[in-house]
Amino acid sequence: MAAPFHRILSPFSLLLLLFLFSTSFASTVYDILTENGLPQGLLPDAVKEYSLFPDGEFVVEFSKPCYAKFSLLVYYEKKITGKLEYGRISNLSGIQVKKFFIWVGVDEIVASADDRSLDFTVGFITEKHPVSEFAEIRPCKSKAGTSCRGAESLSLISEV
Ligand SMILES: *[C@@H]1O[C@H](CO)[C@@H](O)[C@H](O)[C@H]1NC(C)=O
Repeated sequence: MAAPFHRILSPFSLLLLLFLFSTSFASTVYDILTENGLPQGLLPDAVKEYSLFPDGEFVVEFSKPCYAKFSLLVYYEKKITGKLEYGRISNLSGIQVKKFFIWVGVDEIVASADDRSLDFTVGFITEKHPVSEFAEIRPCKSKAGTSCRGAESLSLISEV
């Protein structure tokens, strides 16, 4: 004999269903960036999960570490953390850019008042990049590509 309907769909399971429904339509981390006046392409695809706390502290986890090519080569560790405010990411950890031949951590990303450019604070220097460079979400690449032949040949050597 079939169980009465109200026993199958108890208030608890209804809440659970509602919860599952709402989380599957929740905003993505890319939506959160654009809602905060920052371009979605700041993060490559392959975001596995993220947490954003009320004070703006966030954690983003990728399914693997990523390289993405902008005018600079950028490396994303598997897990990045920082603090998000409108038009600004500070206390950033886990994103590096290749400057000349070394990798340097990006500490802060700030949108300019006219929304046309982003200032990247990398160590002691601040670099301006047009926002348009980060308009599209880049693929997460496992390898640095041609501009990082040194690292690739190193990994080839270690595989031999
Ligand atoms: C900066 O980030 C670290 C984790 O990388 C965290 O422990 C610390 O509380 C943060 N500081 C501020 C001022 O948000």
